[in-house]
Amino acid sequence: MATIVPSVSWPGACWTLLVCCLLTPGAQGQEFLLRVEPQNPVFPAGGSLLVNCSTDCPSSKKIILETSLSKELVDNGTGWAAFQLSNVTGNSRILCSGYCNGSQITGFSDITVYSLPERVELAPLPPWQPVGQNLILRCQVEGGSPRTSLTVVLLRREEELTRQPAVGEPAEVNTTVLTSREDHGAYFSCRTELDMKPQGLELFRNTSAPRQLRTFGFLGPILNLSEPSAPEGSTVTVSCMAGARVQVTLDGVPAAAPGQPVQLQLNATESDDGRNFFCSATLEVDGEFLCRNSSVQLRVLYGPKIDRATCPQHLKWKDKTRHVLQCQARGNPYPQLRCLKEGSNREVPVGIPFFVNVTHNGTYQCQASSSQGKYTLVVVMDIEAPKSHFVPVFLAVLVILGVVTVVVALMYVFREHKRSGRYHVRQESTSLPLTSMQPTEAMGEEPSRAE
Ligand SMILES: *[C@@H]1O[C@H](CO)[C@@H](O)[C@H](O)[C@H]1NC(C)=O
Ligand SMILES: *[C@@H]1O[C@H](CO)[C@@H](O)[C@H](O)[C@H]1NC(C)=O
Ligand SMILES: *[C@@H]1O[C@H](CO)[C@@H](O)[C@H](O)[C@H]1NC(C)=O
Ligand SMILES: *[C@@H]1O[C@H](CO)[C@@H](O)[C@H](O)[C@H]1NC(C)=O
Ligand SMILES: *[C@@H]1O[C@H](CO)[C@@H](O)[C@H](O)[C@H]1NC(C)=O
Repeated sequence: MATIVPSVSWPGACWTLLVCCLLTPGAQGQEFLLRVEPQNPVFPAGGSLLVNCSTDCPSSKKIILETSLSKELVDNGTGWAAFQLSNVTGNSRILCSGYCNGSQITGFSDITVYSLPERVELAPLPPWQPVGQNLILRCQVEGGSPRTSLTVVLLRREEELTRQPAVGEPAEVNTTVLTSREDHGAYFSCRTELDMKPQGLELFRNTSAPRQLRTFGFLGPILNLSEPSAPEGSTVTVSCMAGARVQVTLDGVPAAAPGQPVQLQLNATESDDGRNFFCSATLEVDGEFLCRNSSVQLRVLYGPKIDRATCPQHLKWKDKTRHVLQCQARGNPYPQLRCLKEGSNREVPVGIPFFVNVTHNGTYQCQASSSQGKYTLVVVMDIEAPKSHFVPVFLAVLVILGVVTVVVALMYVFREHKRSGRYHVRQESTSLPLTSMQPTEAMGEEPSRAE
């Protein structure tokens, strides 16, 4: 017995080779085979099996069955012995051995058992599934063999959603489905398929208890603005509604009753531009609260405006310096801002540094304009001319020139005067040359005195 047991694990090829080699004319008894019936049976795990070991050898002896399974000899006859195997739970190889003319003869058979899963279960579905959201389906399979032949299928009604091999114990198979309105009331289930067709049997199917899906979807909530872009000062109505039995709350104000819409009215102001309104809808189903939110943004058309605070109306700047005309306009749509000089229509840049000079001196019309209108602000630019050295120098030069001119002029006049005096003296001196010391007075009086 001990000598045979290890041979149980020999591969079939070795056995064939061994049998072939032993079937030589000299080896007596080896031309007879020991049959094992049934050959390679497949049957449900835990069952029992009648095994018949038989040979055509006329002088066979000691036919036994080698197995780890629990066995019982039920009958025997010439050249055969029948055994009952019970509680066969796993695959195994059974071996019959005996003696024929003093030589050992053997035969074997491979037993394959299969078992159907003990548990196939689809995990519970959420009580209510929102339409448009993913639903995760989970199936658990316990038992089932051989696992290589076991497949798990997830189903929506009869439609196969996924088909995956069963792996692990318990095996778990998941899939995700996007639920639609049509899924409401649909049955989901999980099915195992044990394919024993290659072993000459059939395809065994086990299906979980079905689970019915309940979906919900309320359109919205629908949040409406009477005017998505409202002019400043106009009245805007915000309304929110959802289906019957749905309680809506708009910006914290609940509707009077479930199924009723809720409305808000406001006078559109500049500060409402970009304001968001929130509406939440709640539906109670079987004690559960299903919630959905919506939001909408209001646009208020306003302006254009120029902030006096951000736009100084009187600017006192020095000539030839860099400055920025800081003016900002606001409004929706965003206005265009231009500053033009009165008279010349010369434009100065706004918000951008520029060099100022005396030619910038003047009054400017800063105008913000948009499709909503115009707004004008007057800005006076006072450019201070520099205290240049040119003027004093010029004036000094002028003064000096004037003084010099006056002096030169005086000198000239004096000289001319003097020259004319001498002439008179010279003419007189021809007769009175010695009286030159007191010229003018003497000259005037002398002739009269002389007369
Ligand atoms: C075992 O096989 C032999 C030979 O085929 C046959 O005569 C015998 O009746 C079988 N025994 C049983 C119990 O089937
Ligand atoms: C069958 O075999 C299994 C283990 O292989 C054992 O746990 C079980 O008790 C056995 N059943 C019977 C009825 O012998
Ligand atoms: C919401 O607006 C749409 C389209 O602007 C309109 O068809 C619908 O009647 C409005 N609903 C409400 C409640 O004002
Ligand atoms: C809207 O303005 C009108 C008139 O200016 C006023 O009577 C009304 O109360 C204002 N409504 C709101 C919600 O402020
Ligand atoms: C809806 O809004 C409320 C309050 O703003 C918030 O508590 C809730 O989580 C939101 N629900 C969803 C589904 O976004």
